[in-house]
Amino acid sequence: MSDERLRAIVLVGGLGTRLRPITYTVPKQLIPLAGQPVLYHVLDLLPRNVEEATLACGYKAEAIEAYLTAHPHRVKTRVVRESQPLGTGGAMRNAASGASDPFFLLNGDVISGIDLTQMLAFHREKGAFGTMSLAEVEDPQPFGVAVLDGEERITRFVEKPPRAEAPSRWINAGVTIWSREVLEQIPDRVPLSFESEVMGSVLSKGIYGFCLRSFWEDAGTPAGILHAQRLLFDHPRKDRLAARSQLEGAQVLPPVAIGRGCHADGAVVGRYVTLGQEVRLGQGARVEDSILMDGVEVGPGARIQGSIVGPGQSIPSGTVLEGRCVGSTPEGVS
Ligand code: GDD
Ligand code: MG
Repeated sequence: MSDERLRAIVLVGGLGTRLRPITYTVPKQLIPLAGQPVLYHVLDLLPRNVEEATLACGYKAEAIEAYLTAHPHRVKTRVVRESQPLGTGGAMRNAASGASDPFFLLNGDVISGIDLTQMLAFHREKGAFGTMSLAEVEDPQPFGVAVLDGEERITRFVEKPPRAEAPSRWINAGVTIWSREVLEQIPDRVPLSFESEVMGSVLSKGIYGFCLRSFWEDAGTPAGILHAQRLLFDHPRKDRLAARSQLEGAQVLPPVAIGRGCHADGAVVGRYVTLGQEVRLGQGARVEDSILMDGVEVGPGARIQGSIVGPGQSIPSGTVLEGRCVGSTPEGVS
């Protein structure tokens, strides 16, 4: 079975509303964490026996296509676009042509060290119809929450319950494996949420929970993005080229990832910082636990902490940015 070729569907069409204003210009999957876009890290989870990943794209599909053309991933990718947002269920159905049996389904914003080869072995051992990776979190409210029986079978699943009603702290980690038959449960070209509208009706077919022991984060909020970046820096993969960490004219406190063409003049950069390409830092500027995307200019003496700054933004001298997302808002949007 080791030479079996499998396929994956990756959901990358969400609007990224929780990351505005950054996501007005950049889809969340292209925000760089530890030197590489979220999408790169998600595709990197796929094992070698995945022959193709179909990206279910909607919002800013052309930016995702352009990125993959310029930076082909080791995993072969194919983009399927949707003309209106179809939700997680509709998007999965829309991208399902040629799906293998079973197939992987990944949310496009999950940063984790999950081992999908082990998860697939678990799926087979259990003879599962579906397997959902589960992460244990303090606050399950923003997620899909699962209850397991003694055989690791999911007996209940509630999407985003009110906090007091969450039946456990084990949540859908956004990486699942499905029998191809699941697609028969989803109507074609109809917007719907897989978690809210399909999960309940397939539970009886045998969905198992694969409890994660690795790091995990949903990079869908500013805090999630920055935490995911810290996790990636703290768990570097041996099979990946290390990010550049030199920046002439700056005091660098690793770990950092520095893009091409950056300039600094007596600035302090780190820890946990990604600078995109052509970022300029003025005299005495300090940047920590942050992401500054391509072309950002930071004036002398500015301090940036726990923040994400979108492409081409200028941060005036002396500004203090803490816990902020800075980007352009399109005209007419308040
Ligand atoms: N193509 C397409 N079309 N993709 C979509 C759409 C859509 O209409 N809506 C969302 N997506 C993509 C997003 O880009 C993201 O990669 C993924 O589907 C999940 O959507 P999110 O909006 O990030 O969902 P969530 O974080 O609130 O909840 C989901 O993820 C949690 C774990 O991170 C659910 O699957 C929860 O059950 C889960 O716990
Ligand atoms: Mg998410």
